[in-house]
Amino acid sequence: MARGRFISFEGGEGSGKSTQARLLADRIRAGGRDVVVTREPGGTPLGERIRELILAGRPALDAEFLLFAAARAEHVAAVIRPALDAGRWVICDRFHDSTRVYQGMLAGVDAGLLDIVERHTIAGAVPDLTMVLDVDPTTGRTRAEERGALNRYDAEHIDYHRRIRDGFLAIAKAEPARCVVIDAGRPVEVVAGDVWRSVASRLLATAG
Ligand code: TYD
Repeated sequence: MARGRFISFEGGEGSGKSTQARLLADRIRAGGRDVVVTREPGGTPLGERIRELILAGRPALDAEFLLFAAARAEHVAAVIRPALDAGRWVICDRFHDSTRVYQGMLAGVDAGLLDIVERHTIAGAVPDLTMVLDVDPTTGRTRAEERGALNRYDAEHIDYHRRIRDGFLAIAKAEPARCVVIDAGRPVEVVAGDVWRSVASRLLATAG
């Protein structure tokens, strides 16, 4: 059985990750493949509980980082790896790049610690493709406000969101074989078209 493919969506607030993840899943399913759509933090019963803890409180920096890591370790072991091993495709709304950007670049968790924890928690389940949905933070903010319910990360100052954007763009630049940057300031269908073309050319062409 061929291993499934793993796609992560990353980006700042209001970049449309969840919508694009869903649309991509529909399109891949239409081609007869089995697809699991999941998210971080969350994706498992334990992960959803950790998500509530993180979003409701304000854990100390390293505590917050390790909670994200714990949720991810569980998610990889219980959902992502079994699905990939069974030949399913996995689409994840946020994954390890979010930790690199939010906890690493923005909050300042030690890079060596971040690196070693990342390697252990994802244990080889590196996304085959990461779609970085790039949107101007003011546009993203307006969209997020229209959607309502800003979380405590969303509510940060606009400069914080500029740094998040720069963080994801820096990762994409450093890892061009894994990451594709998509201009997500355009209409949903146009963005979805670009996402689909990237998946088709980078993954479907070589998938079993
Ligand atoms: P969520 O409501 O899922 O936000 P979004 O709709 O923007 O994806 O909340 C998750 C928040 O957690 C998000 O603002 C980014 C943050 N986060 C981290 O700081 N580190 C991580 O590793 C992950 C996965 C998320």
